[in-house]
Amino acid sequence: MSEADLAAKESVAVAPSGAALGAYVSGLDAGPGLSERGLMHIRDALLRHSVVILRDQTLTPDDQFAFMDRLYGMRPPLGIATPFAVGGHPEMQKISNITKHGKPIGINDAGLMWHTDTCSFPMPELFVSLYSLEIPFGEDGEALGNTRWTSAIAAYEALPEAIKQELAGKRVSQNYGFHIEQMRSRGILTRGKDIQKTDNMAQLHPAVRTHPITGRKLLYVNESYSEWLEGIEPERSRTLLEQLWAHLAEERFHFTHSWRKGDFVIWDNAATQHIGTFDYDPLPRLLHRCGSDGPVPE
Ligand SMILES: [Fe+2]
Repeated sequence: MSEADLAAKESVAVAPSGAALGAYVSGLDAGPGLSERGLMHIRDALLRHSVVILRDQTLTPDDQFAFMDRLYGMRPPLGIATPFAVGGHPEMQKISNITKHGKPIGINDAGLMWHTDTCSFPMPELFVSLYSLEIPFGEDGEALGNTRWTSAIAAYEALPEAIKQELAGKRVSQNYGFHIEQMRSRGILTRGKDIQKTDNMAQLHPAVRTHPITGRKLLYVNESYSEWLEGIEPERSRTLLEQLWAHLAEERFHFTHSWRKGDFVIWDNAATQHIGTFDYDPLPRLLHRCGSDGPVPE
């Protein structure tokens, strides 16, 4: 089928969520038949709305990998969470609370606190996707396990001018060890020792980042990984970080997604932070996660 035929088949609609970020894109199949024009629609919606949802998708791990590769390019495997890789795809992980023969099949504690993925790496993923294979529902018929995103762009823009100036040019230590310790101290760490370590444990990144595609400024500190701000006295660094975390957690910057099986969600992992809702255990939940390559944050 020619590009023109594929494009003619696609009748694309982008419906903004009405919140600070998030949009539903309909009329496209993200699988192998996706045209270049269709991909550009998704990419454009992603850059405008930071989180996009395509409902009723049927994607194999190969399809999800190929989509992310076309969107931005794929990074090498992360070197963490390898026990939970999707078969044949070491760069994809299962996010799940399901156990088989007493062992977890996936990461079951991802997203307990606000965070941006892989921010302790030198080149964090720019885009991340989740494809839902099994979603739990409550007795009232409502889906459980919602995901929330907050807009790091809107949050930055709403900061008082004095705070923007205090953060200008500063770097923040994004520390995976701090993240693990935060979870341990709150009693919410469940992952085994094998995925508590990575070769890239900590990285200094700009506290205020410029988006590599849109050029928009965004707040790049998060409550999971951001341990201290360089060049700021420790007590002030701690106070300021806690103030920024509370600011990012304000609902006016949020979008909440209620999952259905077959949802394919892609988010801008620079422009947003996210957090999960853990209200479903022991009901089974399974998603496939795949992140793209990304540039060194500037
Ligand atoms: Fe995450």
